[in-house]
Amino acid sequence: MHIAIACDHGGLVLKPAILAYLDSQGITYTDYGTNTTDSVDYPDYAVPVAKDVQSGAADRGILMCGTGIGITIAANKFDGIRAAVVSDEFCAKATAEHNNANILGLGGRVVSPEKAVKLVDIWLHTAYAGGRHQNRLDKITAIEQSQKSRN
Ligand code: RB5
Repeated sequence: MHIAIACDHGGLVLKPAILAYLDSQGITYTDYGTNTTDSVDYPDYAVPVAKDVQSGAADRGILMCGTGIGITIAANKFDGIRAAVVSDEFCAKATAEHNNANILGLGGRVVSPEKAVKLVDIWLHTAYAGGRHQNRLDKITAIEQSQKSRN
């Protein structure tokens, strides 16, 4: 398992705890920053993570900003990316099981580092259920394709 991870200044507060958790699990990662509290633009940090997940260079991605929302919206512009922002255990489990989310979004101004680690742990250890959920993911892929043929 290899993870691509990045955050903006608003998500930085969560990153040390998540990296320590990944280390403790023997999970390797590529950290695309940011690593200071200087104000940056979250789309710039979504791009390398989404690209790595899309290409298969990473199995999954983790993105963090103040809310987890903006950076997740940016990642979802990439075909094949299913980035989901979560702040509770139910959604962390459901987005793995139902959406096969390949990027987890977290908000540094929403959840504590301890909670963020718990959500990552649930998401990583919950299997995708497939079945009826795959039909729905196939429809999302069809939307991506239809948007391409429109241009
Ligand atoms: C940055 O202030 C903030 O807008 C960003 O971290 C994020 O919350 C956007 O969705």
